[in-house]
Formats: sequence, C-alpha cells, structure tokens
Amino acid sequence: MRHFLADDDLSPAEQAQVLALAAELKHAPYDAKPLAGPRTVAMIFDKQTLRTQSSFAAGIAELGGFPMLVDGALAGIGVRESVHDVARVLGRQASMIVWRTYAQGNLEEMAAHSGVPVVNALTDDFHPCQLLADLQTIQEHKQQLAGLTVAFVGDGACNMGNSWLLAGATAGMHVRISSPEGYAPSAAMVQRAAAIAATSGGSAALVSDPVAAVTGADVVVTDTWISMGKEDEAAARAAVFAPYSLTVELFEHAKPDAIAMHCLPAYRGKEIDAEVIDGPQSVVWDEAENRRHAQKAILTFLAEDLR
Ligand code: NVA
Repeated sequence: MRHFLADDDLSPAEQAQVLALAAELKHAPYDAKPLAGPRTVAMIFDKQTLRTQSSFAAGIAELGGFPMLVDGALAGIGVRESVHDVARVLGRQASMIVWRTYAQGNLEEMAAHSGVPVVNALTDDFHPCQLLADLQTIQEHKQQLAGLTVAFVGDGACNMGNSWLLAGATAGMHVRISSPEGYAPSAAMVQRAAAIAATSGGSAALVSDPVAAVTGADVVVTDTWISMGKEDEAAARAAVFAPYSLTVELFEHAKPDAIAMHCLPAYRGKEIDAEVIDGPQSVVWDEAENRRHAQKAILTFLAEDLR
C-alpha cells in the first residue's frame, strides 16, 4: 500500500512519472476515470483551505470519484476519538484519504491503520501536493527541472521550506534555502535532501544571505511568514523576516528570465512585493491551477493499489 505523506515518498523516477501524467491530465482532463464507481475519497481539513479543498474536490470528480468532505472540527480526530479508530472507520467508507492536519505523526498513524492510500494535504512539516504542482509549473515555463537553481526565501523551517528541499532535490534541482537565524530547516532535513540530491545530480544548501541565495537563480520562491498555527508569533516574526522579503530589488538579483512563485495565500508588502507577485514573471496562478492536475496524477498513481 503506497501513501504520499512526504515529498520523498516518490523516487526521482516516480516523481517524473507523476509529473508527466499531470501534464497529460492537464491536456485531457476528462478522459481518465481511475476512480470510476464512483469511488469515495475522504477529504479532511483541520486547518483552513481554499486551493486544496477546491482542487481536490474538482480533481476527484474529474477522475470519476466522489469527494467526501469530512469536517475536521466535527470529527475531532485525536480528541473525540483516536487517529487509529478514525483510520479504521474511514478506511471502511473511502478508497483513499486526503488529510490536512498539524502533526506529521498523526498522518503517519492514519496511513498505518486505514488500509487505504493516504495523501498529505499539508501538515506542519510538509506540503508535498503543492510541490508537485510547483514542479509541473516550472516544467511548463522552463522545459526542465534538473540543473535549475531555486531560491526559497523566508520561513525555511515551515512545511514549504522542507518540501522544497525534498522535492527539489528529488527533481535534481539545486535548492537554496535562505532564512533568518532560528528559522532554517533542521540539519536532519537538509541532510535528508542532500542524500537524495547525491543520487539525482541536484544539491541542497542553506544560504542565509538572501541576495547570495537569489543571485543567478532560475526560480525564486517565498511563502507566508506566519504559517497556520503560528498566528500568535505574528508580531515577532514580522520584524525578524523583514530582510527576507521578496522585493523588486531582491528579485532583480535572479536571472533576467527567472520566475517568481508563491503557494498562496500571499501577503503583499510582507513576504512579497505586489510588483513581484502581480508582475510578468509571476507564475502563481499557474501553480494554483496545477494543484488540480498534479493531485489527479498522484491519486491516479496511488489508485494502482486499489482493489
Ligand atoms: N506555510 C503555509 C502554507 C500555506 C499553503 C502554512 O502552513 O500556512
């Protein structure tokens, strides 16, 4: 039974296979029906969502399946009943489970007991579906992944920083993470990415100076400074992260044809200038659209395990 809990659950070859399928599905969205039946896919959200809920719901329907929204607050997973018991119950109702939650450990427990494929729709540690969409978007704009340099500027310790390390390394990219002191990814995460990069021809590095990180980059990425669950740290973070804002001036250090990326929601004037996110080199709306195509591809990949 395969799951998609973290970016490196896919080998480099499997990631390439899923991305190729995502491109095919974008071209012909209504042809493939691996969830015909319709099979039910349970979607649970313990944190806020717009893109993830809408893109999974639309994508599951396009694959011939039924997206069953399970209200995380009503279910009270881990509070009202254990993750283990919820996994056993949902595994009897649904063919797959898509879950956005806090602790990666709870997602792993769901996967261990559900008996059906489980997909990470964002945890505190990873956002692997976003990275599939982002890699698809880069391929569309740059016609390649391996060998490109990506600079992630901002909260490197959040789910997006970790996922860029693992997914970028898997794709053979050179990943630079630039964060203020205390907000870098863990040494273990960088090591995990470096081990993948050693097999894919990519690299993984922490570059604390944002100008050095962005200089010569093909892709420049940022994310909110205040991830869901960190709202009470907002004031302190705003001061610490200010030098890591993706301003027009910082973006000018990237290659002239560099693209700017952001998973959204974005806070203009904070982590990114309006002129960058709304400018001609921004690909954020393609990223948002590609969530649907990329997620359909990973669901199709996992559907091979369905009986
Ligand atoms: N790092 C952000 C990503 C939002 C899609 C968060 O976790 O809130």
